[in-house]
Amino acid sequence: MASSLRMASTSAARTLFARSASAAVASRQVVPTATRAFSTTKPASSDALFVHRDTDYNNASIPFKFTDENMKLAEEIISHYPKQYKKAAVIPLLDLGQRQNSGWVSISVMNYVAEVLEMPPMRVYEVASFYTMFNREPVGKYFIQLCTTTPCMLGGCGSEKILETMKSHLGIDLGQTTKDKLFTLIEVECLGACANAPMAQINDDYYEDLTPETTVKLLDGLRAGQPPKPGPQSGRHSSEAAEGRSALTEEPYGPGQHCRPEFQ
Ligand code: FES
Repeated sequence: MASSLRMASTSAARTLFARSASAAVASRQVVPTATRAFSTTKPASSDALFVHRDTDYNNASIPFKFTDENMKLAEEIISHYPKQYKKAAVIPLLDLGQRQNSGWVSISVMNYVAEVLEMPPMRVYEVASFYTMFNREPVGKYFIQLCTTTPCMLGGCGSEKILETMKSHLGIDLGQTTKDKLFTLIEVECLGACANAPMAQINDDYYEDLTPETTVKLLDGLRAGQPPKPGPQSGRHSSEAAEGRSALTEEPYGPGQHCRPEFQ
C-alpha cells in the first residue's frame, strides 16, 4: 500500500514537471540566431627545421674560419666590449660569419664563433636559432624578404599582388630557392618602411613602393646583374606624400628675417 502510494506521487510529480517544462518551452521566445561559418587559419609551418640535423652540406666536420680581413673586423668588434664580456659580440660575429658563408650560418660557423668568443657552442646555437635574421639553411644569391604585414598589405597595390608576382615570375613558393640558386623568397613581418609600402628587402637593400611591373623589372635587373637603384621604385625621393608636397612648399626664411629692424 505504501509503495503504491509512493509510485502514484512520483508519477504525479513527473507529470507536473513535464507540464511545467513544456509550458516554459512554449512561452520562451525563439530568437533567430545568425549562423556563421567556422573558419580557421591554416597554421603556418616554419620553412626550416628548428633543430640541427647533419647533412652533407651542413655538419661539424666542414671547416670554417674567418678570412684575415674578417678576423680583423671581428677583433675590432670584440674590442668594443669588456674582456670578460667577449660573448656580447656573438650577434655581430654571427652576422660576419653569415656574410662570409654566402648568407647562412652553418653549424661550423656557429662552432667557430663559439670558439672565438670562448663560449659554449650551445649558447651560440640559442642565439642563431632565436633571431630570424640568421639563416640556418643555404639561401640564394638574392635573399628576398617580402613584407606582408598590414600596412604593406594595404599600401599601394598591396603586398599580396607583389607576392603573387614574385612567386609566378620566379617559379617558386615561399621558403624556396630557384634552381639556379639566384633567389630565395620568404615572407617577413614589418621592416619599418611602411610609409613606402609595399616593400621588400633584398640582401641589405630596401626596394619600396613596389608594383607588379616594378617587381618584374627589379627581379629581371637582379638576374641580369643590373639591379635598379634601391629605395622607392615609384620615382619619389623618399617617403614624401605620393601626391606631391603639401607643406614646406616655400623657401624657408633665413635668420633675422621678419624680426624687428633693431634685431636684424
Ligand atoms: S608593414 Fe611593411 S614595412 Fe612596415
